[in-house]
Amino acid sequence: MITISDLTKVYRARGRDVTALDGVSLHVEPGEVHGVIGRSGAGKSTLIRCVNQLERPTSGTVTVEGRDLTALAGKGNRAGRPLRRARGGIGMIFQHFNLLSSRTAQGNVELPLEIQGLGRRERARKALELLDLVGLADRARAHPAQLSGGQKQRVGIARALAGDPKVLLSDEATSALDPETTGSVLRLLRDLNRQLGLTVLLITHEMDVVKTVCDSASLMEDGRLTESGRVDDLLATPGSRLAHALFPLGAADRGPDRTVVDLTFHGEAAGAPVISRLARVHGLDVSIVGATVETVGTRQIGRMRIELPGPAEKNAAPLAFLRDQGLTVELPGEEPR
Ligand SMILES: Nc1ncnc2c1ncn2[C@@H]1O[C@H](COP(=O)(O)OP(=O)(O)O)[C@@H](O)[C@H]1O
Ligand SMILES: [Mg+2]
Repeated sequence: MITISDLTKVYRARGRDVTALDGVSLHVEPGEVHGVIGRSGAGKSTLIRCVNQLERPTSGTVTVEGRDLTALAGKGNRAGRPLRRARGGIGMIFQHFNLLSSRTAQGNVELPLEIQGLGRRERARKALELLDLVGLADRARAHPAQLSGGQKQRVGIARALAGDPKVLLSDEATSALDPETTGSVLRLLRDLNRQLGLTVLLITHEMDVVKTVCDSASLMEDGRLTESGRVDDLLATPGSRLAHALFPLGAADRGPDRTVVDLTFHGEAAGAPVISRLARVHGLDVSIVGATVETVGTRQIGRMRIELPGPAEKNAAPLAFLRDQGLTVELPGEEPR
C-alpha cells in the first residue's frame, strides 16, 4: 500500500545541510497499522510529510496504492492536479489538530468537501455522517474552543476521512492528549482501520501508542530506520531494541554464580507451563525475578526474567530446552545469540 524506497531528505538551513532522512526504505501492507517511533529530531515528521509530498524528498521514491507520488509534479500548495488527486486518497491528522477556530466541527469537516466541489447539501450530509462515525454526532455545531482535546482530534480524524482515503497518516496525533483520551483516540483509529480497511502510518515518540495499535513498527534514529518489522516478530528477535523498549525488564543484576535469562512468550508458548517443566525436567531451582504481560493488538505477549543456578556455560541444556519450547531466550548484557 505504501512503499518507501531509499528516501533521503536534505534541508539547507542557513548555508548548512541537515540530513533529515538518510536512505529510508519501508513497506506498509494494505490494512496494516505501522508505527514509526523515535526521539525528537529523528526525522519522523519529515518522513510522513514526504509520503504525501507536503515535503519533496531529495532522492528516492514513495509509492502509495501503486502510484509513484515522487514522479508527480508540484510542491505543497502548488501541487499539480494529479498530485492533488492522489493526495485526496491520503488523509492526515496532526498533533495540534489544525482546526479552523472560526468554523464549527461540521464546518471543519466540510472544508475538504468544499475543495472537492461538493454541493451544500451533499457536504452537510457527508460531514454529519463522518462526525457520527467518530462519535461526535451531537457536537456538529460546536466550535473548536467548545470541544475537549480528544473531541478536537476526532473532528480532525473526521476531516481526514472526508476524501474516503485508503491511507491515513498521523503525526503525533495523541501527543497533546492525556493518557485516557489518548487511549480512546487510539481505539477509534483501530476501529476505523478495521471497519474501513484503512492503512495507517503513524509516528510517535510514545511506546504505548505502538503497543496499543500497531501491527508493525520501525525505530527511527538520525534519519534512518534501524529496526523494522511486525511487533510479534520483533519480540521474537533476540537483541531487538524496539522489543526491549516496548517490554522493559530493567537492568539485569548478574553474578558469576547464576544465569539471568529473559524469556519472551508469544504464540503457542504463551499458554504452556514452561517454567514448571523446566524445573522438573532439569531438576533446577528457578527464580522468577520479573515479569510483564502486555496485549499487542489482540495478542498477549509475556516477558519474564528468571535466574538459573550456575554460570551460563553450565546451563546450555536448560537454555536449549527453553528455545525448544518456542520461547525467545536472551541473556541480558551479553551479545545476542
Ligand atoms: N524545514 C526545515 N528546515 C531545516 N531543517 C529542518 C526542517 N524540518 C526539519 N528539519 C530538521 O530535520 C531533522 C528532523 O526533523 P523532524 O522530521 O521534524 O523530526 P521529528 O519529527 O522526528 O522530531 C531535525 O534536525 C530538524 O531540525
Ligand atoms: Mg515531528
